[in-house]
Amino acid sequence: MKALTVVPGQAGSARLDDVDDPPEEHGPVVVETLAIGVCGTDAEIVSGAYGWAPPGRDRLTLGHESLGRVQSAPQGSGLAVGDLVVGIVRRPDPVPCSACAVGQWDMCRNGEYTERGIKSIDGYCSERYRIEAEYAVKVDPKLGELGVLLEPASVVAKAWDQVYSVGGRQGGWEPKTALVTGAGPIGLLAALIGVQRGLEVHVLDQVKEGAKPKLVSELGATYHTGAVKDAACRPDVVIECTGVGQLVFDVMDDVAPGGVVCLTGVSSGGRQLGVDAGSLNRTMVLENEAVVGSVNANRRHYQLGADALAAAERDWLSGLITRKVPLERWADALTRQPDDVKVVIEVGG
Ligand code: BGC
Repeated sequence: MKALTVVPGQAGSARLDDVDDPPEEHGPVVVETLAIGVCGTDAEIVSGAYGWAPPGRDRLTLGHESLGRVQSAPQGSGLAVGDLVVGIVRRPDPVPCSACAVGQWDMCRNGEYTERGIKSIDGYCSERYRIEAEYAVKVDPKLGELGVLLEPASVVAKAWDQVYSVGGRQGGWEPKTALVTGAGPIGLLAALIGVQRGLEVHVLDQVKEGAKPKLVSELGATYHTGAVKDAACRPDVVIECTGVGQLVFDVMDDVAPGGVVCLTGVSSGGRQLGVDAGSLNRTMVLENEAVVGSVNANRRHYQLGADALAAAERDWLSGLITRKVPLERWADALTRQPDDVKVVIEVGG
């Protein structure tokens, strides 16, 4: 079967390969892949800056944002032939650490977790894949092809969950305003959930026209370009989705007393910044502010993500998918175009 594979750490090594059928050790459920979403992490892996091959192998099958149709599933697995499913990305570390032991692999403490299509297990960008039933999340058939948005939605649902757990340490905390930095798929889905939770949402990005400002205003949120302070004055919540160092410090400086900054962008290192650390520290201490990092998602977050997608306007969600590219033209999918929001590789169906 065909699969999109890459040698992690080696730029220019991605190619459409002929690979063996999926191994039984990946699980008893066989899924026909319909679509794979492409994100910044895939671009990083393809550029050679991130990713790990499975043990004893050079090449990794890419793809962690998936949508597929069950081809066969064991009786009693809760899955039936024809079900639409999304594969969970992370698997717990084998130790397991105390978080992985209770199903919170997203909070893995020893870094020995694995991730399909990213870290040491093949991903879903092949014509078929196998999976354990408990890591396949059923998608409402009404969502159809938009189910490919579930993985990014789960990541954002976790971020909001973290914000409310951290903010909730103070009695009666009811956030009113949120700033989301970055209007890519993660930022837009973060804005969606903020609006669904009843907050006044501001979204900051660089582009002045096109799909991003339109999608933000259709949500009833406000789109800004320019400086953090001009976008939202002292918001209760910030969901930082760019990973840009300067923005990270700017939002820490801007958040309201008692507010929560949630960092979701995986940035590359190597850049130095000048920061007035003493002044930032003083404000954060005197105002009980919190900064929390958030990555990945566990099964509960996939459910929260599915609820958010189900409650969203279908047309708005469709607007997030700005390009669909057949598997044979995978390289086009990985080449960014100015008006891209979510690009999807069509595999089968
Ligand atoms: C994925 C997460 C993953 C993270 C770090 C993101 O792109 O959506 O599931 O945990 O990368 O590898």
